[in-house]
Amino acid sequence: MSDNGRVPRPLLADLSPRLPSPLTEIDDDRFARHGVRVLLKRDDLIHPDLIGNKWRKLAPNLEAARGRPLVTFGGAYSNHLRATAAAGRLLGIATTGIVRGDELAGRPLNPSLARCAADGMRLHFVDRSAYRHKEDPATLTALLEAAGARDAYVVPEGGSNALAVRGCAALGRELRGRADVVALACGTGGTLAGLAAGLAPDQRALGVAVLKGGFLTAEVHALQEAAFGGVRGSWQVADGFHFGGYARVPAELRAFAEDFGQLHGVPVEHLYVAKMLHALVALTRSGAFRTGTTIAAVVTGAPQ
Ligand SMILES: Cc1ncc(COP(=O)(O)O)c(C=O)c1O
Repeated sequence: MSDNGRVPRPLLADLSPRLPSPLTEIDDDRFARHGVRVLLKRDDLIHPDLIGNKWRKLAPNLEAARGRPLVTFGGAYSNHLRATAAAGRLLGIATTGIVRGDELAGRPLNPSLARCAADGMRLHFVDRSAYRHKEDPATLTALLEAAGARDAYVVPEGGSNALAVRGCAALGRELRGRADVVALACGTGGTLAGLAAGLAPDQRALGVAVLKGGFLTAEVHALQEAAFGGVRGSWQVADGFHFGGYARVPAELRAFAEDFGQLHGVPVEHLYVAKMLHALVALTRSGAFRTGTTIAAVVTGAPQ
């Protein structure tokens, strides 16, 4: 109990994140036969509810919000919405999720949104056109008003704002001196933007795009500009490994993920992590990494 008789809200540190996250070498002939070492950076073990890059991105925003209610945005299966709802439950903070698709409003919640609701998140469904224009200030104000979240702290879709990007720089710092190349899967590019800034000058980051469209390089530039005032670190985007686009998981990729998971005892998330690992195998096979290269592959999430 605090002096004013209220039970104090838990702090982020009370959630005991496992940081730095573990780094473990794997024994895999698909890499070894090319003289390439692979280490898994187990960000999926940071916290059971704020998994992987969700912790790294949300933690600085939760600190900045100082207990104010949070509002954020996502699709019906958004990992980011789920993590924000969980953070609200764990820290005693009210959360609102603005969800893409007003046609979902009258239907039973899917398991992902049901989890958000169970964690106390208030869900507000909006039509796709308004959702698409949510960065426009007038649309944003109207959306927040309608969601009853006018005074809430706004976290953007995917959680990738300047604070989040700066939070992800810690991932790079944890990997200094440990690998030549650091690979990770990218959606918005926020994690790559921060990671690359935290690495040492002789290291490079490789982002594997899971969305189609080839827009990521420009996004990462913009995110680094917003977070650091200019481009930082050495990084590049691999655009050819999205398997048809976001959430496309053909049988071949599913089988690869199951096999990799069994071989190395790591649960492989399909939408992001599997595409990154598959890209590493393909790039290694094609000779993209010279003999003696050590790669750290970031496990940014876990299967739900
Ligand atoms: C498991 C996982 N890995 C990677 C990413 C990509 O992160 P970013 O949007 O920062 O590129 C996400 C984003 O939601 C994710 O859920």
